[in-house]
Amino acid sequence: MKSLNLQLRFLAPLIVTLVAAAYFALPLMDRLTLRWFARDLNMRGNLVTNTLSDSISDALSDAKGARLQALFDRAVQDERLVAIGLCSLDGTMLRRTASFPRSLDCRQALAAAEQPDPRLRLAGGAVHIGVHTVDGEAGPIARLVLLHDLSFIDRRSQDTRQYLLLFIGALGLTIALITVVVAQLSWRGWVSGVRGLLRGEGLLRPVAASPEMAPLAAEIRARMRDLEDEYRRAHGPQTGWDPERLRALLRTQLQGDQVIVVSNREPYIHDTGPDGTVVRRPASGLVTAVEPVMRACSGTWIAHGSGSADREVVDRHDRVGVPPGRNEYVLRRIWLSAEEERGYYYGFANEGMWPLCHVAHVRPVFRESDWEQYRIVNQRFADAVVSEARGEDPVVLVQDYHFALVPAMIRAKLPRATILTFWHIPWPNPESFGICPWRREILEGMLGSTILGFHTRFHCKNFIETVDRFLEARIEHEHSTISFKGEETLVESYPISIEWPPASEQAAWPTIDECRRRVFERLRLPATTCLGVGVDRYDYTKGILERLHAVERLLEKRPEWIGRFVFVQVAAPSRSLLEEYQSFQERIARVTERINQRFGQPGYQPVHLLAQHHEHDAVNELFRACDLCVVTSLHDGMNLVCKEFVAARDDEQGVLILSRFAGAAREMTEALIVNPYHVEETADALHRAATMPPAEQRERMASLRMTVRENNVFRWAGHMLTDAGRSRLRERIEARVERHRVE
Ligand code: F6P
Repeated sequence: MKSLNLQLRFLAPLIVTLVAAAYFALPLMDRLTLRWFARDLNMRGNLVTNTLSDSISDALSDAKGARLQALFDRAVQDERLVAIGLCSLDGTMLRRTASFPRSLDCRQALAAAEQPDPRLRLAGGAVHIGVHTVDGEAGPIARLVLLHDLSFIDRRSQDTRQYLLLFIGALGLTIALITVVVAQLSWRGWVSGVRGLLRGEGLLRPVAASPEMAPLAAEIRARMRDLEDEYRRAHGPQTGWDPERLRALLRTQLQGDQVIVVSNREPYIHDTGPDGTVVRRPASGLVTAVEPVMRACSGTWIAHGSGSADREVVDRHDRVGVPPGRNEYVLRRIWLSAEEERGYYYGFANEGMWPLCHVAHVRPVFRESDWEQYRIVNQRFADAVVSEARGEDPVVLVQDYHFALVPAMIRAKLPRATILTFWHIPWPNPESFGICPWRREILEGMLGSTILGFHTRFHCKNFIETVDRFLEARIEHEHSTISFKGEETLVESYPISIEWPPASEQAAWPTIDECRRRVFERLRLPATTCLGVGVDRYDYTKGILERLHAVERLLEKRPEWIGRFVFVQVAAPSRSLLEEYQSFQERIARVTERINQRFGQPGYQPVHLLAQHHEHDAVNELFRACDLCVVTSLHDGMNLVCKEFVAARDDEQGVLILSRFAGAAREMTEALIVNPYHVEETADALHRAATMPPAEQRERMASLRMTVRENNVFRWAGHMLTDAGRSRLRERIEARVERHRVE
């Protein structure tokens, strides 16, 4: 009884204090949140104004109001931007989107924006009003009025309030619990228990001191940690994704755990050249994307050592620090025998899985012996992961169709690992996939993943339907999860991208004029030539043949381009050991020759086929020199060439022609989207691109650049790792609940 009184005497003021804290803290929190968001919205407004200023200036001088209207209409598709109005300097409304309130004129807008709390109540809810000056060459030319939706602020405020209340509640409970324990211990005279408590043992091992309180105390402590995590996640930086933000995410949500990447292709290849060892960067979308992520995260990258000098530079554990000279992460090389490479890489992966998933009208070939090698090599890579893992729950990023079995193999040895598998190529429908003799084994292997990523929702849907068709698994469509043999896999889309070139790299690029001069000189092109470019691996899925047919058709139906249009195709040799690739390469060479004979003239060669590997700088030079870039994949998971082209054009000129069958077509809608199987349509797109006015090129390119800059590869990795962090958090909670249940 005495103990109870003591506890009540302490708890009553405590509860009063906590309620008072909540009462005063909540409005303060709301005010702060609003101020932060208002600042963000102003910054966003400035960004939108800067982006649109050239187009506005063009539209004001050329009276191209329709395009500006279209631009405004596109801009307000952003869910937070409600309406845009353009006011002249003397306060006349020049243009507005349909959503702009009729009752609001320029004068009222200016007055409202100058208020300390620039909010307006409209029928659809509160909006933030911002007025931004549009500068032309000779100074201000107009004012842009932007109305931003504020409902999300209310939502976030509510979230914040909820977290704060939960936090205060949990804090109160913890203090109350400590009070109860202390009071009980002191009342019963458990001196040794008190000593243990002071040393932290009481809370760590409360079962001995107070069995009835133990689960509660453990749960409260755990819940506090979870709340902290949630809070950090909800209030994480809202800025763009960059290496620093990715590192911060790793530190906080993944608690600095080890990251291991597994891929077939290695990011750096050491070859023996005539003057000693040379380092090559392979032509691979996978490497382009994952390498910057590894530089940001450190860790270990396990890959096949395929270079002729690879063995000479590794240590006795087959490891070498890369990038050469900077050693930002470790590359662990796996050696394959000729038989293994033939069966696993050339055979099962590239004669079986590659055509199976691309549905590009090349028949998949499945041989028992290739499958055998595929299994053996997958096991070798999985074992390498286990031997590289420093703890029992590393974060493992498994890449692509070469390693469908690896996730389950890792899971068997490291059950607590977080395994993120990313499938860089398309996933076909269940009927197409069904022809694979080992379809069940492939699916079961992949379902060892914690998270399974594809580029598009469409590929996720195909995968889920395939599992539904061939395995006994529980599918939760609402959450996009598959439960198989007691393990759950999240199937999610994460559109991959490139690293947006850092300012220091861009500053070192030769100017556009210089690139054009060098390329034109090398290819001996007259200055008036319209130059089209294609850059691909020499692969039948890339639509190189269809592209050449389109060039031929252009010259046929518009002879005015003969002598003035030149197309350069860079084709990096790839998988050349395979017959299908050899005959494809021969066919491309034959078609090129035919077009050149048909339309060539002295001093004019319409198609230049450069069938060799080009390093990044050489490709960048071509991208900066050309007038248009053509990507006509017949089927492509994403395609990063188009994103690299856009990143190279800091002059906001150049036109992108893009296949609708590349995953990238979903985000890069300002490109000229074509069906590569439709030769006529692609030929017309070539003409349209070659004659597109500079102002239209700028509008399209500026918008494409904004898309790629924002949706960069750090965002791709960030989203996957955030989901991984969430899954680890859930597992921690489940493990604790299970422990308590058993105790
Ligand atoms: O997307 C498939 C892929 O593995 C990519 O990751 C990469 O761009 C390309 O194929 C490289 O192929 P390979 O490694 O066989 O040269």
